[in-house]
Amino acid sequence: MSAMPGEGRPVEFDDVQGLVRFGYRHLPEACFHLLRIRDPAAARAWLARVPVTSAVKLDRPPDTALHVAFTSEGLRALEVTPDLCAEFPVEFLAGMAGDAARARRLGDIGANDPGNWQWGAGERMPHVAVLLYARFGRLAAWEREVEAQCAAGFLRIERLSTSDTVDVEPFGFADGISQPELDWERRRPVRDQDQLEYLNLSCVGEFLLGYPNEYGRYTPRPLLAPERDPGGLLSRAEDAPERADLGRNGCYLVMRQLRQDVQGFWRELDRQAQGDPDLRERLAAAMVGRKKTGESLAAPGGDPVAGAAARRSTLNAFTYHDDPRGLRCPLSAHIRRANPRNADLPPGAPGIISRLCRMLGFDAAALEQDLIASTRFHRLLRRGRVYGAGADTGIHFICLAANIKRQFEFVQSAWLMGSRFAGLNESDPLLGHRLPDPGDSPTDGFSMPQADGPDRRLSGLPQFVTVLGGAYFFLPGIRALRYLATAR
Ligand code: HEM
Repeated sequence: MSAMPGEGRPVEFDDVQGLVRFGYRHLPEACFHLLRIRDPAAARAWLARVPVTSAVKLDRPPDTALHVAFTSEGLRALEVTPDLCAEFPVEFLAGMAGDAARARRLGDIGANDPGNWQWGAGERMPHVAVLLYARFGRLAAWEREVEAQCAAGFLRIERLSTSDTVDVEPFGFADGISQPELDWERRRPVRDQDQLEYLNLSCVGEFLLGYPNEYGRYTPRPLLAPERDPGGLLSRAEDAPERADLGRNGCYLVMRQLRQDVQGFWRELDRQAQGDPDLRERLAAAMVGRKKTGESLAAPGGDPVAGAAARRSTLNAFTYHDDPRGLRCPLSAHIRRANPRNADLPPGAPGIISRLCRMLGFDAAALEQDLIASTRFHRLLRRGRVYGAGADTGIHFICLAANIKRQFEFVQSAWLMGSRFAGLNESDPLLGHRLPDPGDSPTDGFSMPQADGPDRRLSGLPQFVTVLGGAYFFLPGIRALRYLATAR
């Protein structure tokens, strides 16, 4: 349903899980418990009172934070009624590894095949994820306490540990620089028309259910007849006030364990650079789209040594508008694929005629660009953490979104894995599985456009990142969590 002006209520921060608002940089210790429900009544009793951290801003940020999320199997195991479960979107119900076509689209083939995963498929499918974050030295004892509380209701199938590094990923690049900014105050007018400039400010409804999204619409989610919520635990839906909104203040959480072959990555760059140390750094930066310091290739400068927040904002204030051919930042660089930073019209010459041609689809060159237009509909809030060391290291990739299909799955399949992105015959230089595409074309190259001649092209790249597990979770609002724990 479309949003009506003026119907927006303020965001209820006390009902939103804090992970949506905070990345918890001040809580460097973290671990994620993946659980299966063994006694639904005991599991519900714990979920009914577990102290989940809210998104309310405190004068002194908390020393620990706890979050709870469910897979669709988890909701069923909790004995949530089938008709209610059925109102969740298909991709959440099917799961990340639910069918071969989805796995292929996400690039989960070959070494990434869910059949090889350590968790996330078959009996190793978690029901519940409990995410724990703590200040230095505070995690171990608290984790033991939480575990003891969970013992009656749950069986732990995996403990995902993390390392304390929050700002640098294992290949050695600054991470966590670019994030969408959420319009928490609901300042942006709800509307549904072409946005002419790239804007980092996203409607809350792109990341929280129950609010209008970038289309000015409410993302479908389970809405209940009032008799299903006799205690009035849930908020009423903004767009359907006669219904109780099970989605309000919740979102989806996508988790993927991505192992990084750090040695293999740098060995390959040494080979491609034939031992030239400067060239090897330049090639690696071209693959990422930023230097190790975080400086963007599209807009060199920024202030890599400013304070953390100022540094992130200066390193993030750019688009690719002045680099349409990818001479500074290759079109296929990871960050350019993951967020092409463009507006709703394909790029083109200024002026009304050009704009009209592009709007009506008469500009052939612009059509090719169309696939990568309108990034505002495909933003992700990233909340991943680094894990491990040496040969067993990588990222527990976590992202939040209101629509798994339009946000995570689109970015992962069309932009990162897509071997036709921007008319190129290659996939993401960091993440690609390197297997030929369905038309049997190779995907193991990486092109760097040059001003004065043909692209410089690396070929025969090996796979650097392997998927070891993954699942789709629902991260409910806190009232919805209590509802799921108590209502039958
Ligand atoms: C091991 C795997 C990965 C590595 C090593 C990696 C590395 C990086 C690095 C170094 C950055 C630049 C820092 C920043 O802008 O914050 C970045 C940005 C980003 N990555 Fe990844 N990434 C990985 C996986 C993924 C996946 C699976 C996705 C999405 C499905 C993704 C989406 C993004 C997005 C959206 C950005 C921000 C782009 C922007 O707004 O400019 N990454 N990544």
